[in-house]
Amino acid sequence: MIISSFFVCFVAEKREHIMKTKLKTIITVLLLLSNITFAQSFKFVAMSDSRGSDNGVNTPVLSALTKHMLENNPDVKFVVFAGDMVNGHRNDPGRTKRELLHWKEVMAPVYNHPNIVWPGIWPLVGNHEIRHREDEDNFRDVFQDVYMNGPKEQKGLSYSFDFGNSHFCIMNTDAWYYGDIEDTTDDRPDWHQIKYIDWVENDLKSARERGMKHIFTFSHEMPFPIGGHLHDGLPNLGRNFKGKMDSTRQYYLDRRDAFWNLMQEYEADAHICGHEHTYGRQEVNGVYQILNGSSGAPLYNFNPRPETDTTIGWHEMTYEEAVPYYEMLEYSHGPGKNSQRSENFVGHKAFNYSVYEVTDDKVVVKTYGAFSKDGTNTELGTEIELIDEFVMEK
Ligand SMILES: [Fe+2]
Repeated sequence: MIISSFFVCFVAEKREHIMKTKLKTIITVLLLLSNITFAQSFKFVAMSDSRGSDNGVNTPVLSALTKHMLENNPDVKFVVFAGDMVNGHRNDPGRTKRELLHWKEVMAPVYNHPNIVWPGIWPLVGNHEIRHREDEDNFRDVFQDVYMNGPKEQKGLSYSFDFGNSHFCIMNTDAWYYGDIEDTTDDRPDWHQIKYIDWVENDLKSARERGMKHIFTFSHEMPFPIGGHLHDGLPNLGRNFKGKMDSTRQYYLDRRDAFWNLMQEYEADAHICGHEHTYGRQEVNGVYQILNGSSGAPLYNFNPRPETDTTIGWHEMTYEEAVPYYEMLEYSHGPGKNSQRSENFVGHKAFNYSVYEVTDDKVVVKTYGAFSKDGTNTELGTEIELIDEFVMEK
């Protein structure tokens, strides 16, 4: 009797032990799986162009957007800011530096948020930060927390990094000398390019070799202008383009095309940029260009169409003036057409930021924005709300 009850106890204990072991194994596997899921899934934000009148910054609009972002997406890991944070000054580099330091103060809620990881904001140079020979070094000095893995002369301005399952390539497309910016007959005052395209190619190639699931590239200037800068961006056709190409124009256009070919070859997800002060996304040959322009800079109109032929200042042109550009850049144009590179273009003339939610097989992009007050293009006129949502599938 004693032996039999001892045996029953022993069997029960053994069963309990086996159950506990099984439970532990299940919990461990579940934890591992959840860790993998968390590790592969994250959110980042892209925004750009916040220059304005408060010490070089449009503080009310920039602050409202970052406050909204942190309150509604507190799990965002970092922000990429695609340049033109401040006005800058071409004769006073000290002023540009002070404006950048002020911009960092305005962005303190992002830098100090507990869920944001180092370095908080990945900065890009825009044409407004690089207008004097001392500006590049000043920019490096203000934004020291970036990787110094770019091309030799571009350390701290062009760089790249991995985060989770994704690779991020930051490219400077600006230079401090453009010629005489007051001379409207000079076609080269603000021409832009990716100077170190070999570095970009090696960078994207090695990201693919490391098994990165997603590739995002960034520059201030855009490969496919959407409004206000049809004359420059990376194609650089110039303000006086009437349809006739020369070797200089062809050189820049070829470089733009070479860059986009790399994006296709290495199956990059998207190129994210600013410079034009509006929001627009489109897919060109299977790769997205997402323009997150304006978190405060004066809002621009889209490329002119016959039905909405409007101009603002010297930045924009009439439909008739734009036609030679459309023809050279292969834009869809004419009555009923959108005057953009792709028919799938979606745009909003709004102050905006986009949240990129990255998982292994897709990226969900949600854009939040607000429209300007009537009669201004620098003040908020509506609540900040979701203005666009789409999915980039792998
Ligand atoms: Fe710009």
